[in-house]
Amino acid sequence: MEKGHQLYEGKAKKVFATDDPDLVIVSYKDDATAFNGLKKGTITGKGVINNKMTNHLMQKLEIAGIPTHYVKQLSDRETVVKKVSIVPLEVIIRNISAGSFAKRYGVEEGIVFEHPTIEFSYKNDDLGDPLLNTYHALALKLATQEEIDLIKKYAFAVNDYLKTFMKGIGIDLVDFKLEFGKTTDGQIVLADEISPDTCRLWDDQTHEKLDKDRFRRDLGGAEEAYEEVMRRLMGE
Ligand code: TMP
Repeated sequence: MEKGHQLYEGKAKKVFATDDPDLVIVSYKDDATAFNGLKKGTITGKGVINNKMTNHLMQKLEIAGIPTHYVKQLSDRETVVKKVSIVPLEVIIRNISAGSFAKRYGVEEGIVFEHPTIEFSYKNDDLGDPLLNTYHALALKLATQEEIDLIKKYAFAVNDYLKTFMKGIGIDLVDFKLEFGKTTDGQIVLADEISPDTCRLWDDQTHEKLDKDRFRRDLGGAEEAYEEVMRRLMGE
């Protein structure tokens, strides 16, 4: 596998071409941003943790029947994934009220929902990722009805799997954001990452935040929180 030129640099990852047109290499950075890039910082070691955690979980999700972009981990920070065009929808599942949900609807954080919720944002930094519904997504031709139906099915299946898995390591899966991509042969697969950057993870006993909210809210101890999740997840 030959690493080629850089195709793209995002807020948390870089993407490189390979000698195979259907594969790319993602490289995870320690850079952390919040509030659409307004707040910038570093969480030392996060790139390594997010890379390993994402790969670990995606392999489990594949076995559970959810197709992903994962191919092969190359190093602590680098992974080969299928080349996809990202569906420009951020898919957010919530099990417990927190973050923008609590703010938008004027409720406290920590309300456990009877059923998980799903919402979509238009993945567009210039517009600040505005919330939209599936009719809006169809009108904007961001995805087809069939693709949206599949994305919803996969997202809830990820939640079912991940919620149980996290509970097993003493973590309440509060909410998370997923992104899906379309492979060169048109298959919808789970892409991007599943990490403390993209999930809210609370210790199920102490309710301590073990995720990027430590950075977003200046709580301190972000590095330690990521390391704690990693330790519980992989014994590392
Ligand atoms: P929210 O409560 O701010 O809408 O966030 C919901 C979940 O989505 C939370 O687990 C953090 C994650 N998320 C991202 O991964 N990227 C983002 O840009 C935002 C706003 C949230």
